[in-house]
Amino acid sequence: MGLEPSSSSKAKPFCNVFDHGIVSPPPIWLMRQAGRYLPEYREIRARAASFLDFCYTPKLAVEATLQPITRFGFDAAILFSDILVVPDALGQKVSFESGEGPRLEPMVTEADFAKLPQQIDLGKLAPVLETVERVKAALPQQIAFIGFCGAPWTVASYMIAGKGTPDQAPARLFAYRQRALFQKLIDLLVSASIDYLSAQIKAGVDAVQIFDSWAGVLPAPEFERWCLAPTKAIISGLRTLHPNVKIIAFPRGATTHLPAFATQSGADAIGLDTAADPVWAATSIGQNMVLQGNLDPLALIAGGKALEEATRYIITSLRGRRYIFNLGHGILPETPIEHVEHLLKILRSDA
Ligand code: CP3
Repeated sequence: MGLEPSSSSKAKPFCNVFDHGIVSPPPIWLMRQAGRYLPEYREIRARAASFLDFCYTPKLAVEATLQPITRFGFDAAILFSDILVVPDALGQKVSFESGEGPRLEPMVTEADFAKLPQQIDLGKLAPVLETVERVKAALPQQIAFIGFCGAPWTVASYMIAGKGTPDQAPARLFAYRQRALFQKLIDLLVSASIDYLSAQIKAGVDAVQIFDSWAGVLPAPEFERWCLAPTKAIISGLRTLHPNVKIIAFPRGATTHLPAFATQSGADAIGLDTAADPVWAATSIGQNMVLQGNLDPLALIAGGKALEEATRYIITSLRGRRYIFNLGHGILPETPIEHVEHLLKILRSDA
């Protein structure tokens, strides 16, 4: 049963885009808005023994989630966690080496696959769900709350390679060579994602975003098989359980696949990546679809005129559409705080 508070959502600009239509100025949040560009984030990050401990300590994770809201007044908070808590809860050892990104025990042999459980152990993610409940209780009424997971393809690509790679070649190769085994992993991740997102929705999020950061490396038939089909399955599973939840899909790099993905996935909103032209998106993606994006994170680092021009291009291109302002990918640690303030000023005085 859906627990989303539809009566109170009227007061939330982010939710109004979905429920009522164009909102002006557009609501804004930034992917990775809690992160190393914030001094207050670096301060609490230093208190946790490891990044995963940070994600699993509700007191710290709640604080990290709320920091960008307190500082900037964004229209939505996103749960502070990581997409790789799902492999962790499936029993695969995950760690984060400082400066080097995630490390997992790579899945290589059939025996590695045989060790996987039939379903996710949500007990392992209880601290994350507690974080959701505590954030929900603390958030001002007009701020929406977004939960998330990684899409099966992106999560699987880290599970196979054991780390980030330039083009996810290990998982792509594995999927060609051992399609049936890879399909089993994807199916497990579909059901794990439904269970995990459903638990987040029950604990209080208004919307969920499915991050498919590596969708862009797949040829068309593989895109259909590993990106579109699993995302569609997650969304239809979630809709049965929670008819009113808002679902954002972010298939980064999907380029020409995007219009068909928008129609077929069942998502309410599509996240545009940095390279997607909003003018093209506005004419190629059905009018019913909420669009989200897509300022270049480097324009935010550059600031000044470059930031103003890049922001106005998006505002102008998407005027007349229901949209949520965001970056085209996560905010970078080098981003000056004043540039985020400048962005908010441009958007809220001018859009
Ligand atoms: O958007 C948010 O603010 C919510 C929190 C969030 C994090 N990761 C926190 C994080 C979200 C939504 C993610 C998603 C995520 N994690 C993705 C998909 C989106 C994308 O960026 O493509 C992926 C691929 C990951 C896996 C991951 N986590 C990588 C590759 C890294 C290392 C790279 C880096 O930026 O350090 C992480 C670590 C991570 N996840 C950090 C944060 C704030 C930095 C770790 C630190 O503070 O030490």
